[in-house]
Amino acid sequence: MPASIPRHVAIIMDGNGRWAKQRGKIRTEGHLEGAKSITRMLEAAGNAGVEYITVYAFSTENWKRPPAEVSFLMNLIPKFCKDKLPELMKNGIRLRVIGRIDGLPKAAQEALKNACEKSAANNKLTFTIALNYGGRAEIIDAVNTILADKNRPADQKVTEEEFRNYLYAPDIPDPDLLIRTGGEKRISNFLLWELSYAELYVTDVLWPDFDEAEFQKALAAFGSRQRRFGEVKP
Ligand code: IPE
Ligand code: IPE
Ligand code: MG
Repeated sequence: MPASIPRHVAIIMDGNGRWAKQRGKIRTEGHLEGAKSITRMLEAAGNAGVEYITVYAFSTENWKRPPAEVSFLMNLIPKFCKDKLPELMKNGIRLRVIGRIDGLPKAAQEALKNACEKSAANNKLTFTIALNYGGRAEIIDAVNTILADKNRPADQKVTEEEFRNYLYAPDIPDPDLLIRTGGEKRISNFLLWELSYAELYVTDVLWPDFDEAEFQKALAAFGSRQRRFGEVKP
């Protein structure tokens, strides 16, 4: 049993393409398998008592991929929402989204809206999907909302506490643990503000191979860390 359980786990689900390539399949097969991995991980998180899971599903930079891959991923969104909704309801999981959602195709937007609304009263686990998400975009969107806020004195200085309220999901606590699968040791523009003091865990395991045992390993690593938040601790 890990010493402490992270309240919020953020995940960079990387390695779908390599998983497919290793098996002589096309990259999109990897994305399909990756979607299945999400179900397994939500179950593991629920069992462990994690309250918030945020996954990086599509970055503001992922539009630069080949058009066929992008449209496959965009079409996967409504399918994923439809397929997963019964399971979300059964397991008390609330779905949320962060990112520039209005930049997604209409069908994806509608399916997400429907699944978020239907699951809004679920309270065992909050599952947030980052779509058309960029950490820099989130910060810039917050700045522009502040500038456009007519009820705010223009000469009032912005504090960290106030700024936080302009992020995409201000009520969700900052991640305690960031897991990146696929071995790359980088943030790739994910949750730049929110990850300030998250513990980082990188595994070479590719996202479609990430299972409950791998999730447990990440939790165990987290349990062995000493978080100092800049203080001196014995
Ligand atoms: C992550 O897997 C999923 C998305 C970015 C949509 P990749 O597609 O980046 O897989 P690799 O990194 O090429 O193996
Ligand atoms: C990060 O993975 C984005 C998602 C997992 C959605 P990428 O595969 O896009 O990141 P880079 O290109 O390796 O930095
Ligand atoms: Mg990748």
